[in-house]
Amino acid sequence: MTTAWVSGDSAARSVGADEVAAALARGGASVKRNSSRGLFWLEPLVEVETPAGRVGYGPVSQDEVAALVADGMLEGRDHPLCIGAVDALPYLTRQDRRTFARAGLHEPLDLAAYEASGGLAGMKRALAMPPADIVEAVVASGLRGRGGAGFPAGIKWRTVAAQNAPAKYIVCNADEGDSGTYADRMLMEGDPFALIEGMAIAGLAVGAETGFVYIRSEYPAAIDTMRAAIRVMTNAGWLGNDIGASGRRFHLHVRRGAGAYICGEETSLLASLEGRRGEARAKPPIPAIAGFLGAPTVVNNVLTLAAVPTILAQGADAYAGAGRDRSRGTQPFQLAGNVRRPGLVEVPFGITLRELVEGFGGGTASGRPIRAIQLGGPLGAYVDASMLDLAMDYETLAANGAMLGHGGIVVFDDTVDMAAMARFAFEFCAIESCGKCTPCRVGAVRGVETMDRLLAGDGAARHIIDDLCELMTDGSLCAMGGLTPNPVRSAMKLFPEDFAPRSLT
Ligand SMILES: Cc1cc2nc3c(=O)[nH]c(=O)nc-3n(C[C@H](O)[C@H](O)[C@H](O)COP(=O)(O)O)c2cc1C
Ligand code: SF4
Repeated sequence: MTTAWVSGDSAARSVGADEVAAALARGGASVKRNSSRGLFWLEPLVEVETPAGRVGYGPVSQDEVAALVADGMLEGRDHPLCIGAVDALPYLTRQDRRTFARAGLHEPLDLAAYEASGGLAGMKRALAMPPADIVEAVVASGLRGRGGAGFPAGIKWRTVAAQNAPAKYIVCNADEGDSGTYADRMLMEGDPFALIEGMAIAGLAVGAETGFVYIRSEYPAAIDTMRAAIRVMTNAGWLGNDIGASGRRFHLHVRRGAGAYICGEETSLLASLEGRRGEARAKPPIPAIAGFLGAPTVVNNVLTLAAVPTILAQGADAYAGAGRDRSRGTQPFQLAGNVRRPGLVEVPFGITLRELVEGFGGGTASGRPIRAIQLGGPLGAYVDASMLDLAMDYETLAANGAMLGHGGIVVFDDTVDMAAMARFAFEFCAIESCGKCTPCRVGAVRGVETMDRLLAGDGAARHIIDDLCELMTDGSLCAMGGLTPNPVRSAMKLFPEDFAPRSLT
């Protein structure tokens, strides 16, 4: 019986992958559910195993399956929906997948397949190394935090390792609230062992025996997969009281968020994890010194931790060899919004925005000109079409008033109303603010009102918005209020014509 792979990833299931899988089973295929390749415009994607490798068809609807099978799909025959050998797609061959090396290749909870594709090699090496050497390998790799701030992971680990404390913790930030981002979810649903392995290595490195994965409630499938994967790893002896028969301990737990963007901010996340209200607090003390329950805590993003097994397995130099300046290694970019080929693109830092959005993404889905792109989530700046040749690395983006954030790239065509987007930035902050400090709690609400006044023709409102942005930047307790002016200011600077008086509806 021919094996047909259909992704079990939430994005694929949201467009009918379960129904396609059922129709294929009725059509005589042996159906297996893989993780996502990150080729979202092709979902539901069917990959048929043939002697020449996997041949893809997509997007396939359940109604088309019977005809496709009759036309020889299970033998890999040509068809208008056939995309040929999946591994040969330029969208994949032009990537340098390291964190996502296994994306779409096998069943997410198949530990034997994980190991056969290089999994656990990093853990085995780490178990044979003195903890300080693990930390220094991560420092040497140049790995920076992928959650948004880009802080060097190895330096954070070194700080935690240096603390003399009865307990230390590893906390994985899987709150993934940035607009247009989905890489954390894809990884947890598709390659959960990689994250678990990365967290266990972090535990070995800094001397922590307990870890938590804090996952947003909007990701129920990721929560289920992570819990199931923890059971598999525990039963196999890679988690628990004697990991890899080394006598070392590492226990891992999943905790569920409750739908607050601010709980992605690390101090709010830790408060929430402790069962308290999700509010940001002033730093210092940094979590590396006083984090979960006051103990030294590594807080890292999913992608940061999931990059670690590869770094340990292949060596710090191999990772540091990719990228440029102080942006080392690869970044999983996430193409979203009005783009023809949305998907996960993992490439070394330094690729241009044009290569990502036009080369990989194929331009806008609407076919209209690109007008604006928001980089780095809802607190990130907008860029315009004249900035498409920007190199995508931390330094270049910062020099141009933009930021990488979690690698989200949201594309808008020339029908976008940038005043509405600027207003929305304030509105989002007003909704998601934790309310602890005045510049953010009150500033965001005043921002919405003042934007409405500006658009109604009140010329003085412009200066008030400028002042408000300055106040929020300088006076907010955390980056939620502090960065909200980014999208507002960039929209007003790059698209002044959209802020002319108009009738409000
Ligand atoms: C408002 C706000 C929301 C954030 N949301 C997330 C998030 O969803 N995921 C994440 O990893 N980091 C998020 N961060 C960044 C975290 O505070 C922190 O820098 C990060 O978890 C550290 O991990 P890293 O060094 O691996 O990036 C957010 C920060 C702010 C200010
Ligand atoms: S800036 Fe906003 S989210 Fe951050 S502490 Fe202040 S009120 Fe809370």
